[in-house]
Amino acid sequence: MTDRYAVIGNPVAHSKSPWIHAAFARATGQDLEYGRIEAPLDGFAQALERFRAGGAKGLNVTLPFKEQAFRCCTRATGRARAAQAVNTLVFGAELLGDNTDGVGLVRDLSQNLAVELEGRKLLLMGAGGAAQGVLGALLEARVAQLVVANRTPGRAQALAARFAGVSAGGYDELAGRSFDIVINATSAGLAGEAPPLPGGVLNDRALAYDMVYGRDTPFLAAARAAGARACDGLGMLVEQAAESFFVWRGVRPQTQPVLEALRAAL
Ligand code: ATR
Repeated sequence: MTDRYAVIGNPVAHSKSPWIHAAFARATGQDLEYGRIEAPLDGFAQALERFRAGGAKGLNVTLPFKEQAFRCCTRATGRARAAQAVNTLVFGAELLGDNTDGVGLVRDLSQNLAVELEGRKLLLMGAGGAAQGVLGALLEARVAQLVVANRTPGRAQALAARFAGVSAGGYDELAGRSFDIVINATSAGLAGEAPPLPGGVLNDRALAYDMVYGRDTPFLAAARAAGARACDGLGMLVEQAAESFFVWRGVRPQTQPVLEALRAAL
């Protein structure tokens, strides 16, 4: 019997996960099918149980259900507990929740983009689910400094307080500072806006990374104008998928060919 997986979210029609997992399955010879489930906003737990009861093996969880998925699972990995959010569910005797977003970002930076993280100064912008999901993995990569900035500074401070060695505040406080790596984990780009970074924070030695993919955000445009190297989040998408695939199947797919094909199709 072919093993069944899916991505669950709302909306989910745009998700590239079915395409990515089908490519991984072909390349590794794994017998699985991977679909999409659009759950009603008030019907996540029911949709999850229906899929599980039908004999499926696992789910990827996307917006807006990652925090709810964390609360639903009966066991969670350390990285899911750090994120307090789950993007990967494994169906077994337990409902195991994992989170591969952080490792996906770190692998994209370190392997695909050849950016050294250890010992670097890093700024993470945003304090919502996207930022929360990657903070633990960035710390594990042994960065020298990790600052979280947010439009609502109190949210950044509350997030930083959960992790040792992270400082937090508003954007104004960044004036005069510089970072090796600046990551945009806000949803500002989706509204055609950029986080209000003071001038000079981005310079020609910085790497600017936007977790959004498939569009040129105002943040990336501003980074390029400041001479920084600008990268979108397509590689993170593929790397988090590869880690989920590994969690489910015990096989690590090659990500480079899939990333290249996706990039060419954008
Ligand atoms: P997600 O799960 O995608 O992170 P979220 O929890 O709604 O979504 O968080 C969105 C993040 O983007 C927040 O950090 C938000 O800042 P606030 O906490 O101040 O709301 C940030 N954000 C959204 N629009 C923004 C904008 N135009 N400028 C700066 N930050 C913005």
